[in-house]
Order: sequence, then structure tokens, then C-alpha cells
Amino acid sequence: MLKGKSIILGITGGIAAYKGAALCSKLVQAGANVHVIMTESATKFITPLTLQTLSRNPVYIDTFDERDPAVVSHIHLADHADLIVIAPATANAIAKLAGGHADDMLSTTLLAATCPVLIAPAMNVHMYEHPAVVHNLELLASRGAMFIEPGTGQLACGYVAKGRLAEPEDIVLAIQSWFDSGSKLKGKRLLVTAGGTMERLDPVRYLTNDSSGKMGFALAEAALLMGADVTLVAGRTTAAPPAGVKLIRVESAQQMLEAVTGLYDDMDIVVKSAAVADYRAVQISDHKLKKNGEKLVLELERTTDILETLGQKKKQQFLVGFAAETEQVEQYAMDKLRRKNCDLIVANDVSKEGAGFNGDTNIVQVFGEKGLVAALPLLSKREVAARLLDLIAARLASSGGKRE
Ligand code: CTP
Repeated sequence: MLKGKSIILGITGGIAAYKGAALCSKLVQAGANVHVIMTESATKFITPLTLQTLSRNPVYIDTFDERDPAVVSHIHLADHADLIVIAPATANAIAKLAGGHADDMLSTTLLAATCPVLIAPAMNVHMYEHPAVVHNLELLASRGAMFIEPGTGQLACGYVAKGRLAEPEDIVLAIQSWFDSGSKLKGKRLLVTAGGTMERLDPVRYLTNDSSGKMGFALAEAALLMGADVTLVAGRTTAAPPAGVKLIRVESAQQMLEAVTGLYDDMDIVVKSAAVADYRAVQISDHKLKKNGEKLVLELERTTDILETLGQKKKQQFLVGFAAETEQVEQYAMDKLRRKNCDLIVANDVSKEGAGFNGDTNIVQVFGEKGLVAALPLLSKREVAARLLDLIAARLASSGGKRE
């Protein structure tokens, strides 16, 4: 239900604007307080009176039509919205938002808003596939906008193709599930480790690995969206960490061990996606090593296995490990799960195209105490993170908030 949620419904000027009425009605029925903003072109397709009657609120069209001297309408609306939905979003509305234009009430409110924005595009298929539109959609996605893909079917222009506004009931479902997911991990303290560790040999040289930190960062970002209180312990990474988390930077496996064990007692969920060095140099030279002879033999010693240490101390924590494998994935993953006392192990076959280090995608299998829990197809690391956290939240909920 959407009780107590304040939603701005932006209706722009395409033929699907008439579906904005059904969407408005369904949002109100679901309990939302809906404020409709229409563009001038949208009023050519559907009357503001229809939307005012359905939303039981005044409809905004003109930025300068200020009715309440106590507030500046576009700022007031933007400040109080939990979500802005643009449905239908025309190619022009999308371009204006991507370009940061503010020449009417909707675009001005969008610039003033800090809440999430959900865009439901609707247009002719060739317009939807035009490189300019594709570029604008990508740009908006990179800024965090969410989308409801248009459907395929009979378009008003005569084509049977992709471009139809998603059905109002599907848009409402997406909105509901987005609000639900915002509370799935509410109140949970979650610790994620990300990136690779660096084991110094001398002041200018070190041993490390190919980890970019992307998987761990995606997990931290998805956990934030689900309402968790997120602490991120990150080693060497090439990707930028997400905003809004408590970030602790470390270098070596030993530093990561100390940071993580110091935080462990207070955590509800710990996800160890970092690629931790298994060995470090026995001697770290405090001056730059000089070349000397044809061969150099490095003596390495085992680092402490952080995940195993956490597994031994586990109380209320739900513990999730990662396993990068190239063969016998299930056997090795199950072995790690038991040896390190984890609740779940996320295994990826790093020999597969699209899985593992550095890329933006991953293919993972998740194992629990009784074996395979989920086998996910090739997905973006963001999507893998969301699915994995869904699984964790479901397991925590079914065990009454405690680890099984
Ligand atoms: N890990 C850790 N501390 C280490 C090494 C690994 O916490 N010193 C964690 C990783 O963060 C990951 C999991 O252990 O969650 C699996 O890492 P992996 O290197 O695949 O495990 P190993 O048991 O070292 O595997 P292998 O026997 O294949 O070397």
C-alpha cells in the first residue's frame, strides 16, 4: 500500500497521457497523496479537471501560477515528494530532464527535487531507438533515475512495436515494490568488504589482484536503497564508492581483518566480497629493494582468513562469503561454506565470459547449508546485488530476524 506517500505524477504530451488518468486513480486508491503536474502539451490530450477530480488536489501546469503566497510551489512540491513518476514521459521530457532544462512547472520541479524519479517512456519505436533518446536514457540511468520499460504492441502511430506506455497497474506495482524494497533491510546494520588487498613488498611495490570493488560497491548501494545502515570496508578499488555509506579504507589483509573484527559484534549482516590476499611477504622492506642477481625469491606467509575468523565468532550475524572458482564450483563452494561457517556462499565461475573480476556483470550461484539456493543468469552487478540482498532479507525474515 502507498498510504502516507506523497507522489508527484508528471504527465507529458503524448497520446498515452490519457492513461495518466487511470494511473492517478490507482495511486489514489492505493492510498497515495498524488500531486499532478502536466505540461502544456499534455493538456491537449487530457483535461486538468480530470486529474484534479481524480487526485483531489490542484493540478499544476504553469510555474508562475502561484496560488499560495506562503510557498513557492515547485520547491514546496519537490521538498515534500517521496517519489516523482513521469508517465508518459515523451522524448522531449526525457531530453529536458537529461539536459537540466527548467522552462515549465514539471522540469523546474524535477530540478528542485532530491527524491527518486521513475520514468515511464512512451513514444514511437524509432524515436525510442534514436541514439539521442538512448543517450539521454543512459545519462539519466547513470544519475540514478529508474525506468519502467515501455511495452510492445499497437502504437498510436500505426506501428506494432515497442513504445507503448507500460500499463497503469504495472506502474503501480513497480511503485509499490520500490517502496517495499526501501524497508526490506530497515534497521539492519550491514558490513560489506570490497576490492582487493595490497600486500607491500617495499615502499613502492606490492602484491595485489584484479578486483575492481564493483561487486562490493553494488552491494553497498543496493543495501542502502533497502534501508540498511551500511559500513563499507574497501581495499584497493578502481571503481568509485557509493555515497551515503560509512567508508573505511584499508590496504592489507591484516588491516582489513582488524577493521572488520572491530565492527563485527554490532553487525546483523556481513558480506565479504573483497578479494583478500592469501599470502603476504614475510619481510616488508622499509627501503626500495635494489636489484641484485638474476633471480629474486620472495618468501610469503599465509594471511589470516578473515571470513573463517568471523565464522568462528559468529553470533547473531548473517554471514555471506564469496568464492571465485574455475572448476567444480558446487563442491568447492559447499566446502568453503562449511569450513568458514557461512550462511550463504556466492560462487562465481570466473572462467565464464561475463563473470568475476573487473567487469560490470556477473554470473553467480548462491549456496546455503542444504545446497544450491539460486542460480542467477548473466546480470549487471547491480542486479546481482539486489537479488542477493533480497535473498538475505527473505532468509532473515523467515528466521524471525535471526540467523538460521
Ligand atoms: N577470504 C578472507 N580472508 C582471506 C582469504 C579469503 O576473508 N585471507 C574470504 C573472501 O573475502 C571470500 C572468501 O574468503 O569471501 C573466499 O575467498 P577464496 O580466496 O576463494 O577462498 P579460499 O578459501 O582462500 O579459496 P582457495 O582455497 O580456492 O584459495
